[in-house]
Amino acid sequence: MQQLTKRRWLMLLKGELYNAPIGDSPQNILDLGTGTGIWALDIAEKFPGAHVIGNDISPIQPTWVAPNIEFIVEDFESEWTYDTNHFDFIHARCLAGYAPPPRLCFNERTSLTRSRCVADWPGFMRRIFDHVKPGGYFEIHESAVWARSDDDSLKPDSALMEWQKALNRAGEMSGRELNIYRKLEGWMMDAGFEDVTVKVYTLPFSPWPRDPYLKAIGRYQAVQLQQAIDSYSLRLYTQVLGWGADAAKIHNAVVKRELREKKLHAYVPTYSLPTPFCLGHGCVYTNCEQSCCLWEKATSSEIVSRWRA
Ligand SMILES: C[S@@+](CC[C@H](N)C(=O)[O-])C[C@H]1O[C@@H](n2cnc3c(N)ncnc32)[C@H](O)[C@@H]1O
Repeated sequence: MQQLTKRRWLMLLKGELYNAPIGDSPQNILDLGTGTGIWALDIAEKFPGAHVIGNDISPIQPTWVAPNIEFIVEDFESEWTYDTNHFDFIHARCLAGYAPPPRLCFNERTSLTRSRCVADWPGFMRRIFDHVKPGGYFEIHESAVWARSDDDSLKPDSALMEWQKALNRAGEMSGRELNIYRKLEGWMMDAGFEDVTVKVYTLPFSPWPRDPYLKAIGRYQAVQLQQAIDSYSLRLYTQVLGWGADAAKIHNAVVKRELREKKLHAYVPTYSLPTPFCLGHGCVYTNCEQSCCLWEKATSSEIVSRWRA
């Protein structure tokens, strides 16, 4: 699964681990919410002269690692002990939303919202800004948690649509908005980052696109989704929305079956940020020509042709 996710990200970013122009010799790199540490391990290998830290609240990282990498178990929402103006590059990926801890009781949501994932995004961005060296870079990758289709093959009454509505409702109820991708640019600029770049990639949910590269990405995503649907949603359904376990599992089985249907042409936009001054979705500028607005309005075939360019 790890390798699958790694491969999918690499393909999405056309073989790159990041987009920021960090140069050939970054010294200090931080990967926030590193998970299994797969990105941190790769960046440490790419830059053997750099000191790479991957932090996470869960101790799920390998212990036998290269000497230039350190995994630290910590809550990035607590006070940081790192020096300010220290990192050449801070990276974050897939931190939107939250994973409730096991045995969470419905009445314990308040303590949960203090301890998992990002409760205060503007504050999180300011903290990151304070810890990046002047001239350093921060890059974040987040996907929309809202699939769409350009040919109406994703039906409003489908189980997949119900799945994503329920996920978003659960996110709001627990104080962790899932679709934060559109707000990232504003938060970064408010924190003080300059020249924020927005790149949008299309992530097909299955191998439906004709374009061979997108088709390949869709293959990876299809396998990943079959495994991830439950882990994204079962706890949210049962512990936040109060669904019964059986109802949640049956619902997810229907979602997975829909995702395997060839006629479904669903995808999500995935945002990679470190510049346009466009405000993205719902941008206030009329006929904005900046990339985030163009991407927002683009159909999947336009996305494919831009992606190829
Ligand atoms: C969806 S995973 C993404 C992992 C990794 N960034 C990647 O892209 O492969 C989110 C990770 O963030 C971690 N996380 C969530 N809240 C955290 C917190 N407050 N402090 C540190 N890590 C946290 C979770 O434990 C989880 O490993």
